[in-house]
Amino acid sequence: MLQRAEPSPTFRDLLNRPLRSMRLSVTDRCNLRCQYCMPEEEYVWLPRKEILTLEEASSLIDIFAELGVSKIRLTGGEPLIRRDLAALVKMIARNPRIEDLAITTNGLLLAESAQALYDAGLHRVTVSLDTLRPDRFTALTRKDSHAKVLDGITAAQRAGFKDVKIDSVIMRGVNDDELVDLLEFGRQRNAEVRFIEYMDVGGATHWSMEKVVSRAEMLEVLTRQYGRVEPVASAGWAPADQFVLPDGTVFGIVASTTTPFCRTCDRSRLTADGTWYLCLYAQHGIDLRAPLRAGASKAELTSLIVAGWTGRRDRGAEERQELRFRDVLVSVEGLRHDSHLEMHTRGG
Ligand code: GTP
Ligand code: 5AD
Ligand code: SF4
Repeated sequence: MLQRAEPSPTFRDLLNRPLRSMRLSVTDRCNLRCQYCMPEEEYVWLPRKEILTLEEASSLIDIFAELGVSKIRLTGGEPLIRRDLAALVKMIARNPRIEDLAITTNGLLLAESAQALYDAGLHRVTVSLDTLRPDRFTALTRKDSHAKVLDGITAAQRAGFKDVKIDSVIMRGVNDDELVDLLEFGRQRNAEVRFIEYMDVGGATHWSMEKVVSRAEMLEVLTRQYGRVEPVASAGWAPADQFVLPDGTVFGIVASTTTPFCRTCDRSRLTADGTWYLCLYAQHGIDLRAPLRAGASKAELTSLIVAGWTGRRDRGAEERQELRFRDVLVSVEGLRHDSHLEMHTRGG
């Protein structure tokens, strides 16, 4: 008989942050090669035998849920290339403690999978779309598939997803001339757009501070175009700050590079091979796969997780910001040595 793990109301990390949100990477593979995430020619992939089965992933999620996690976001790599993803969605959605189950996808395979995911119980979809220009999309992702992404957005809304969001990473000299067009596109499609500052995460091997377009700059451009842009008051736990245009259009900015939000970070990440990371920038993770496969009890796994979180003091983005000279986080050699350091492995 399995023991029940009672979530403690005082289950907090060393900076008094609760564990409420989990990004579950279901695969490290991706069918695009976005410049800000996978700019290299060659990658080292996680060994297939180390990838958690859907049942293993779902059993870990159940333990996290008992410890207070109520928000799950499926990510990758590209999560839609994971076979039987809808079956995993069904397993997670069955858990009454999960109040929010979302996915971040590049949209390429969304047209054919949106309905099955909706029917399986997925709540929300966020599509990454950085440009409205097909030729620019090809240059940015190395695949001529812009139309497929647009079809994916349409299909998701048709399938029943109400609040489809669009995430756009803004890079200087690449797509920073599209802020207004992207916002207009979101307005037309009834999808909230979120502009994301280019981040110096592992894998962003072409990153430099000069290529970052800050939230302040974005707001300046949008204010010039639309007039007053007002902040929307928020609960303070989501990475995106919301803003509203004079006509009521709401959009978001994730300003993690220039204005880190580590002090309110209630999230952790589980990679496809069951390594648990307490921070996007963490160099080391906690292996949950080995004990799980060795037959650890639920109570043992729970203790491991509680010990990990209660010892957490990570504030990776803030530490990056405190650096006097800020350069690429991990070298190409470092990434080859440990592909867990890649953003596409630990969940974009
Ligand atoms: P909502 O629940 O819809 O607010 O989604 P979300 O903002 O949690 O998820 P989403 O995948 O849309 O995240 C947007 C972007 O924020 C990501 O692609 C990252 O660039 C960034 N981001 C997400 N999580 C973290 C994090 O833990 N730390 C930092 N520094 N940035 C993050
Ligand atoms: N900077 C900002 N966001 C990134 N992502 C991946 N790499 C970066 C980066 N260097 C996020 C984007 C993308 C999602 C899959 O991961 O939001 O849409
Ligand atoms: Fe959380 Fe680390 Fe991101 Fe800061 S950098 S918000 S601590 S995941």
